[in-house]
Formats: sequence, C-alpha cells, structure tokens
Amino acid sequence: MTSNAFGFTTVADIFVEWGGSKQLGALLASRFDARRALLITDRGLIDAGLIAPVEKSLVAAGFNVTLFDQVVADPPEAIVLGCADMAKTKQIDIVIGLGGGSSLDIAKLVAVLITNEQPLTEMYGIGNVKGNRLPLALVPTTAGTGSEVTNISIITTGETTKMGVVSRQLYGDFVLLDAELTVGLPQIHTAATGIDAMVHAIEAYTSKFKKNPLSDALAREALRLLSDNLIAACKDGTNRAAREKMLLGAMLAGQAFANSPVAAVHALAYPLGGHYHLPHGLTNALMLGPVLRYNAKVAAPLYAELADVMAVPGTGNVTARSDAFVAHMLTLMDESGAPRRLRDVNVTDNSLSMLAKDAMKQSRLLVNNPVEITEEDALALYREAF
Ligand SMILES: NC(=O)c1ccc[n+]([C@@H]2O[C@H](COP(=O)([O-])OP(=O)(O)OC[C@H]3O[C@@H](n4cnc5c(N)ncnc54)[C@H](O)[C@@H]3O)[C@@H](O)[C@H]2O)c1
Ligand SMILES: [Fe+2]
Repeated sequence: MTSNAFGFTTVADIFVEWGGSKQLGALLASRFDARRALLITDRGLIDAGLIAPVEKSLVAAGFNVTLFDQVVADPPEAIVLGCADMAKTKQIDIVIGLGGGSSLDIAKLVAVLITNEQPLTEMYGIGNVKGNRLPLALVPTTAGTGSEVTNISIITTGETTKMGVVSRQLYGDFVLLDAELTVGLPQIHTAATGIDAMVHAIEAYTSKFKKNPLSDALAREALRLLSDNLIAACKDGTNRAAREKMLLGAMLAGQAFANSPVAAVHALAYPLGGHYHLPHGLTNALMLGPVLRYNAKVAAPLYAELADVMAVPGTGNVTARSDAFVAHMLTLMDESGAPRRLRDVNVTDNSLSMLAKDAMKQSRLLVNNPVEITEEDALALYREAF
C-alpha cells in the first residue's frame, strides 16, 4: 500500500530530568542570550512551593525575573492581555511558562503578543498569527494537556466559549519535563489531566485527515504509558516511575495531536468547561464513553488496535476488541475517581440543547471526527452522558 503525503512538526529541544527544574536557570542560560525573563504561572503553584526553587535557579544563572502569577484555569482573554501589557513595560526578552495547560497556553500567546501589534481577536483559528515571538521555554506541571509541545492555546472568550489559536509560532523553543513537579498534583487533577492526555492519544489515532505514521507511533506509545500508569499515579502521587511515565506519555500524546488533531470528545467537552467550569480533563471523561460508542461504527478497527496496545485481556473479532477497548477505558476512568455522568457534576438536563448548539461552534475539531456529528447527534450524545 502506498502512503499519503504528511507533515510533522514538534519542539526541537526537549530535556527530561527528574528534579531538572531546579537547574532551569543553567539550562536556559546555555541555550538563550536573553536574560530578562517573564515567568508565567498560577498562585496555586506558588503556594505549593514549586516556583521559589525555579526562580532561585534563574536568578543564580543571571536572569532578571518578572513573575506573573495571575493565571486561572480555563484562562479568559483579559488575563492574557493583562499579562502581555505588563510584560511590555518590563522589556521582557524571554518568556517561561511553568504550570498546567492554562499557564503554558498563556505563555505561548504572550510571547507572540509582546512583539506584535496584531490583536488577539484576529489570532483565533488555524494559521492566523502573523508575526514572530520572543524566545519561549515551557515546563509542564500536569501530565496533561501536552501544551508544552503543541502549537495551540485555548482561551475562554466572552463568558463561556473556549476558542483555540493554532499557529506554528506557538511551538516553544525549549521544553523541560521534570516529573518531580507533578508529585503534589492532587488525585482528582492527576485523574483529570491523565484522562485528557489519553483522549489526546485516542483522538489523534482516529483523526480523520491528518493521522500519519509518526502521530500513530506517538499516540500508541502515549496510550500504553498513560493507561499503564494512570491508576498508580492516582493512588500514590509520590510514585516516581508512574509520574515520569505519565509526564512522558502526556507529552507524546501532545506531539501526536498537534499533528493529527483531536475531535468530537473535545468538541463536546469544551461547552461543559465553558458553562460549568469543570476541569478540562473531567469534561473529556464525561463525554468519552458516548463518543467512543458513537464513533465505533467507523473507528472500530482502530479501537481494536488500541485494545492490543493497552494489552486489554481477551480475544475476538474487530467488534469484540473495539468493545473491549471502550469497556477498558471506562473502567480506567472509574478507577481514577473521575465522575462519569453529567448529572453527577450538577449539569441540568434543560441545558443539554444549549450545550449541543455550542458544541457545533467547535467546527475546527468536529471536522476531524471519524463520523459526522450534527447538532441532533450532539444532543443525543449529551443525553447519553447525562
Ligand atoms: N494548548 C493545548 O494544546 C491544550 C490541550 C488541552 C487542554 N488545554 C487547556 O489547558 C487548560 C487545562 O490545563 P491543565 O489541565 O493542565 O490544568 P490547569 O493549568 O488549569 O491547572 C489546574 C489546577 O491544577 C493546579 N496545579 C497544576 N499543576 C500542579 C502541581 N504540580 N501541583 C499542585 N497543583 C497543580 C493549578 O494550580 C490549578 O489550580 C484548559 O484551559 C484547556 O483547555 C490546552
Ligand atoms: Fe485536551
């Protein structure tokens, strides 16, 4: 069989070391000339004591550090713009994002906004960012969004809508994976972010147009690492091996879906995050079962392959193995402690039509789904999840 043409892009410089963030200053000083650093993070990480050692290492390596700690989950536009305005007054010449997906997504956009006059409102969508950006280093503390290796930033616009900026400028210059940073991540966030990463791998593997041999290889290895270690990391956050494999798996999944985009699970999850302010990974967990069952009519052969990747016990034909894959994913989510029904997280059934209408706005994602989804289908999927 011949192959289709495909492209693949990722961050060029990735370093992985347990405890490595305590040497972030030296790691950056040897790579960049810039020394006026903007460190973007959230208050929770400062309170957890994760930022002080990193700041110390930056100062010791000769960096002048400006700290921005106003990031909130599912960040709204005002935070991005406020951060960029503040940075402009400080003559920042390198941006460091350190935190979960919310901090990394803001860092990526701010690195662009500091050097450009293009308004953020013109950047949403695919390939709409015009200028260049400042040097950009990304250090994730969740395993996770994979944002450290994606060309995507997700921002909450207006009150409730989540929109993506997708552009080559959002790939960072340097990524540090230090799994020690994830040790204190509470169990429910470990579950939520780990499920998010698994969904990235699954949706990249079944993406309709851009799936390719490299994204496939990464998605398979990501899912293997994540499914083997999710429960161990949830049960004992100090399990170093599990934390390391989760962080690596989340990054591999990020590399996969940056090139072979996610689809209906994310498209239906975003309205839940927007309206109900639920953690992104939990919204994925809530929609995963219904969407996998819906997609199986086309994606069953690929789900059957993923059953083998995850070493799901059993044998049988494609349908049997695809069913086993879906059942295994649901078991993993139950064991992780993630809620499984919309009613369990206070979603009301009279909001389901509004959610379905909103999901249709995620056309950037829905086109990648292996099976077409209309507003009626979306409503049926929310009803199933309810
Ligand atoms: N850019 C992308 O490619 C991409 C992909 C998927 C999701 N996202 C976006 O990323 C955001 C979600 O990111 P997230 O799930 O990583 O969470 P997050 O950044 O929103 O953080 C969630 C909470 O976890 C805390 N936290 C993070 N790391 C911690 C640690 N090591 N120890 C203790 N507490 C810690 C934070 O303080 C915060 O309170 C959403 O806005 C989502 O839409 C982006
Ligand atoms: Fe995600």
